[in-house]
Parts: sequence; structure tokens; C-alpha cells
Amino acid sequence: MRLATLVLVTAFLATFHHGVEGGGLSYDFYTKSCPQLEGIVRASLQNIFLTDPTAPAALLRLMFHDCQVQGCDASILLDQGSGNLAPEMASSRNLAIQKREAINAIKTMTEMTCPGQVSCADIVILAAREAVSMSGGPRIRVPLGRRDSKISSYRLADASLPHPNAGVSDVLTIFAKKGMTIEESVAILGAHTLGVTHCFNVLDRLNRLQGGSESVRDINGGFLLFLRLSCPQMSLNSNMSFVPNDPSMFAFDNQYYAMAMSGRGVLRVDAEMASDRRTARVMSHFSVNQDAFFRAFSSAFVKLSASGVLTGNQGVIRRTCNLLD
Ligand code: HEM
Ligand SMILES: *[C@@H]1O[C@H](CO)[C@@H](O)[C@H](O)[C@H]1NC(C)=O
Repeated sequence: MRLATLVLVTAFLATFHHGVEGGGLSYDFYTKSCPQLEGIVRASLQNIFLTDPTAPAALLRLMFHDCQVQGCDASILLDQGSGNLAPEMASSRNLAIQKREAINAIKTMTEMTCPGQVSCADIVILAAREAVSMSGGPRIRVPLGRRDSKISSYRLADASLPHPNAGVSDVLTIFAKKGMTIEESVAILGAHTLGVTHCFNVLDRLNRLQGGSESVRDINGGFLLFLRLSCPQMSLNSNMSFVPNDPSMFAFDNQYYAMAMSGRGVLRVDAEMASDRRTARVMSHFSVNQDAFFRAFSSAFVKLSASGVLTGNQGVIRRTCNLLD
């Protein structure tokens, strides 16, 4: 009886360790078919990051925008839409999405080493994971085995990607659907410790603050002035000009939370999470405890990266990430 129980438990643990997690993904997916994969991704990105410090932020946002539209399936990389629809990149929500070509470059390297094995969707996740750790963030283990979709549509992107002025409730709803707790939802927004926001995405909020539909209570007066001066209303330049998301825009740290807690959140959601009763305590905790932020970010990242994935016989392995071939 005892022995039987032990055998059962061992079998269960073995399955858990090797096998199915996040709907058909596994931690040893490429152990046989492409053991060099993680090394290839890391080496390529080290080169890219050396010459372009904006690349980590771009690759982390690229992962979110891929995963948020019909799951993490590399649909954002496709140059062509489905039928006569424009592709995801034509959506205004994807303004300033960059570094899709970096994924193509990594894919080319993996095709030389392990042809036909590695999906573009897994490369998007691995690149985002490296972006976080190479910027000083946590090292995250991610399960692999995603496959690529054949569909890309700007309409799906418009419908699925959050509006730049999304509020706390919208955001909590989005991440609850991916199985995240409130703590994890607050942590994944900590991705805004990297990178910038273009004025195109700030002007809406400035208008709402001006018109009174968003309370100025959550924003520091000096910071509001800084946003107004950086992003003037009558500029033709708002797709080009930008403000940093936090003062250390190249470092993955917990400054984002400290800024939000002091009324210096750039986006509406950054600001409102600091005072909303559901999220304020977590925001304040992360602002003083970077380890707690890193732990919650890591588990949230794995959940985001497992959302709506194609596995097994679903989807395809594209040969070139931006083309349907
Ligand atoms: C769900 C609520 C979210 C909203 C409303 C939101 C909105 C935005 C907006 C408007 C920008 C500025 C883009 C620009 O103007 O260039 C931005 C940037 C960014 N977002 Fe988010 N975001 C959300 C969640 C996330 C998540 C979950 C991640 C990653 C896991 C993420 C990662 C980033 C990064 C890294 C940048 C900086 C990009 C760069 O500098 O290239 N965001 N976000
Ligand atoms: C700025 O970007 C938006 C969204 O992609 C686009 O609709 C608009 O035409 C662009 N404006 C300029 C001046 O390029």
C-alpha cells in the first residue's frame, strides 16, 4: 500500500516536471531538437543590446502585444493580414512597436542550427525573457513548445490590445483572464520600468486631466507640467516625441513603483494603481521591496507567456517569421 502510493506520487511528480504545463508547453521541449537554442538567443541579443539600448524595452512590449492578440503565436510578426484585412501592425495600438526584425534575425540563426524546429512564438518569449534579465531583472524559466499562427488582423489587435487610457478595472480584467492574482497583475505592469511612452499616447490623458474626466489627485503638479511641456497639444510631432516611463528607463528595477507612488506615473493606469484600494498596498510594497516585485513578475510573466498558445499539431512552424510560408 505504502509502496504503491510512493510509486504513484513519483509518477505524478515526473509528469509534472517533464510534461504538460501551461497547456502543452514544457521546460525541456528543445532539449533534443535544439539544445543550442537558448545560447543562440542570448548571444544574438547581447550584440543587439550593445548597439541599441532601446531594444530590451521594445522586445518586452513586443511579447505582450503578441500574447494579447489571440495568444502568444507570433501573429504580430506577420507582414500580411488575413484575407483582405491589414495585419496587426496596422493597428494604432501597435504604434512604435519595434524590433520585429530582431526576432527574424534570431530565427535565421536557429534555422541554420536546427532547421524547422523552433517556432517564432517561442523566440518572442525567449527574447523578452533575456531582455528582462540583461536589464538587471529576474532570470525567468519559461516553458516552451508554442507554435505559430497563420492569422494576423488589425481588427483583432484593435479589439484585444488595451487602450492607452485603460483604467485599473480594465487592466485587472485582462490579467485575471490569464489566471493572474492582483499581485501578479500589478507586477506585470512593472514592465513599464523599461522604455518610453510616445506623446501620441499621453495627449489623451492630458485632455482628460484638463477636462476633469480624470482626477488630478493622482498626479504630481510638477510632473503634470513636465508632461504638458514634453507633449504640447498642437504638435505634429506626437508620434515621434516621447517621455521616459521612469527615470531609469534602461534598468529593470522597482523605480516604476516609486514614481507611481509619488504621483509620477506616465499612463493613467500607472497613476491610478497607486491609489486604487485593490492595488495600492501592492504598489507600495513593490516600491520598497524589489525582490517581492521580481518574484511576482516572474510568475506573472510565465502566465502571460502561456496564454492562448498553440501547441502539438496546432498551428505551424514558420520558416521566416514575417512570412506565411
Ligand atoms: C494592460 C495594460 C497596459 C497598458 C494600457 C499599456 C500601455 C502602454 C503604452 C501606451 C505604452 C507606450 C507605447 C509608446 O507610446 O511607445 C507602453 C509601453 C510599454 N509597455 Fe505597456 N501597457 C500595458 C501592459 C504592458 C505589459 C503587460 C507589458 C509587458 C509585459 C508592457 C510592456 C511595455 C514596455 C516594455 C513598454 C515600453 C516600450 C518601448 O519603450 O519600446 N506593457 N505600454
Ligand atoms: C500617428 O500615428 C497614428 C496611429 O498609428 C496615425 O493614425 C496617424 O496618422 C499618425 N500621425 C502622423 C502625423 O504620422
